[in-house]
Amino acid sequence: MAEAPDPVALAAVRAHVDAARRVCVLTGAGMSAESGIATFRDPATGLWSKFDPAVLASVEGFRAQPQHVWDWYAQRREGMRRARPNAGHLALAAFGRQRPGVLTVVTQNVDDLHQRAGWPETIRLHGDILAARWLTPCPRGKACDPAAAAVGRPPRCAECGNLVRPDVVWFGEMLPERAVDAAEHAARRCDLMLVVGTSGAVWPAAGLAHTARRAGARVAIVNPDDSEIDDEAHWVLRGTAATLLPPLLDTRR
Ligand code: APR
Repeated sequence: MAEAPDPVALAAVRAHVDAARRVCVLTGAGMSAESGIATFRDPATGLWSKFDPAVLASVEGFRAQPQHVWDWYAQRREGMRRARPNAGHLALAAFGRQRPGVLTVVTQNVDDLHQRAGWPETIRLHGDILAARWLTPCPRGKACDPAAAAVGRPPRCAECGNLVRPDVVWFGEMLPERAVDAAEHAARRCDLMLVVGTSGAVWPAAGLAHTARRAGARVAIVNPDDSEIDDEAHWVLRGTAATLLPPLLDTRR
């Protein structure tokens, strides 16, 4: 059971939020946990404690069982469409609006809760589960719209048989270069990095805290449990996104 955050650390991070010219926030699955979306590595409830990522989050797994993988993502997509942004998402978007030019949000999440909370410029490192793309480049060099290939689980191009896949980054795949560049740039320039709801288990996202610290930023982690990057933090605030972000980011002071 996570203990309450240290009030001295909380006050110190709040002071740095107030003074920061640039705040970079890196979020992980824990950011959406209070919206009812399962994380990956929480003991017992995490997705990877029930499902095999090699089967469900790899190109090989998709090629081997396309319908099984497509259906799993379809089920997750439905859950994400029903989910609502939580107080943490809303606090981030409100802070960004009240402090123009200060906030950059970089997420590992593939849901759209930051965007639906009012922060459309969120940098997506691991793609968008609500979007789809072709599994391979078109063998005929055509640029057909995957959304038009509506038939099948997964949908398949009627002309060349190409499969439609979720537009997310699977294990072993490269992250979108522009997103990585933007995230690295924000991590190097920020005065304060808030790391919210990530186990720090997956790189290069997990390396952004080190990038920020090495560039001179202060680093604070918001997480009810230990993470693999706690050592990169000047402060570790033991608590959840929806309970800690509103008081940390409230600009009505
Ligand atoms: N508020 C804040 N943090 C929370 C909350 C919460 N309400 N609930 C859980 N957490 C924390 C957990 O303690 C854990 O440290 O969120 C973290 C979630 O870790 P993971 O499940 O590993 O998710 P994440 O770090 O985002 O995983 C990174 O791995 O499988 C890939 O592509 C997937 O983007 C994902 C990446």
